[in-house]
Amino acid sequence: MNRSEAEKRIGALRSEITLHDYRYYVEDAPSVPDAEYDRLLRELQALEAEHPDLVTPESPTQRVGGEPMEGFEAVRHETPMLSLANAFSSDEIEQFHDRVIRGLETDHAEYVAEPKLDGVAISLRYRDGRLQQAATRGDGATGEDVTSNVRTINAIPLQLEMRESDIPWPVTLEVRGEIYMPLSGFEEYNARARESGEKELVNPRNAAAGSLRQLDPRLTAQRPLAFYAYAMVAASEDMPESHYQALQRLRSWGFPVNPEVRRVRDAGGCIAYYEEMSRKRENLSYDIDGVVYKVDSREEQKTLGYVSRAPRWAIAQKFPAQEEITRLLDIDVQVGRTGAITPVARLEPVFVGGVTVTNATLHNLDEIQ
Ligand code: IVH
Repeated sequence: MNRSEAEKRIGALRSEITLHDYRYYVEDAPSVPDAEYDRLLRELQALEAEHPDLVTPESPTQRVGGEPMEGFEAVRHETPMLSLANAFSSDEIEQFHDRVIRGLETDHAEYVAEPKLDGVAISLRYRDGRLQQAATRGDGATGEDVTSNVRTINAIPLQLEMRESDIPWPVTLEVRGEIYMPLSGFEEYNARARESGEKELVNPRNAAAGSLRQLDPRLTAQRPLAFYAYAMVAASEDMPESHYQALQRLRSWGFPVNPEVRRVRDAGGCIAYYEEMSRKRENLSYDIDGVVYKVDSREEQKTLGYVSRAPRWAIAQKFPAQEEITRLLDIDVQVGRTGAITPVARLEPVFVGGVTVTNATLHNLDEIQ
């Protein structure tokens, strides 16, 4: 195959592979068997090996590249990565909705309701449709550059494509979302780790966080990580008027968006969504620790603004903490460096909330009693 034939074939293979990625990760409807996908990828690798000058950083073969890193560089977030206020009851959601409609001087509000994934927040920056940088949240103002690791996650597009609409992506774009480990991947990984005597992952959340913190991207590449986008934070042109439209648009450019995302109305719509997700929770293929409601209109979001590092226009409704019963085996007394004395309960190991608990410090007299 001469160079120009190779160039054409390389282009065709890349589009075909990214289309399969899209079908799999965004539409959740795989269009080819794994074996066929691997065959395409190997053909592309072989052609690129023959024509190294045709390799681009966005090629699907380039998800893992380079040497292990020494450490992670600091990245300042142009838009701070905020947290969400938490609510634990329907009453608190009614109060949230009252504050929203009072703030907007209206009598109703449209929200977008979303699952709250238990993973790791990530900020992704694109320029001309190409992934430039991925950063963790850190303290909200400054995070860590984990680009090499994030590039290994197939669900995160290296190159944007126009799929379901003819709206082009902006020259610069910042997208935020959650990197998580699906439960099936978590269990398969641990089954293999057990067989080969390697260390098992504790729970899917820690697994996602730990995977991103690997200095060798080849290790991250072996972890079954996935991604859902939940916000378009900045764009050089034409931000959609509503959050819901922003999510649709992100999807049309190749970002996975959670299919459980819904538009709902008023506190009643939010609470009905919470109940729906509580029922669905155990059948989901990933862990969630609650749901999130966001005022849909960007204009209204601006009117409501922020209070102490959290938006006034959004809130998380958390599921109740998981509880388990176990046996108290003993109480030891720990003496700290300063001489402070803390009683520590030794417990019969119990698995709760994704971790095995064997000790608990007893700070409160009623707990000790
Ligand atoms: S929105 C300004 N949407 O929850 C609002 N966050 O305390 C920014 N999270 O660590 C967050 N699922 O990564 C939003 N559908 C969702 C989410 C979500 C999970 C995480 C987020 C952050 C924490 C917010």
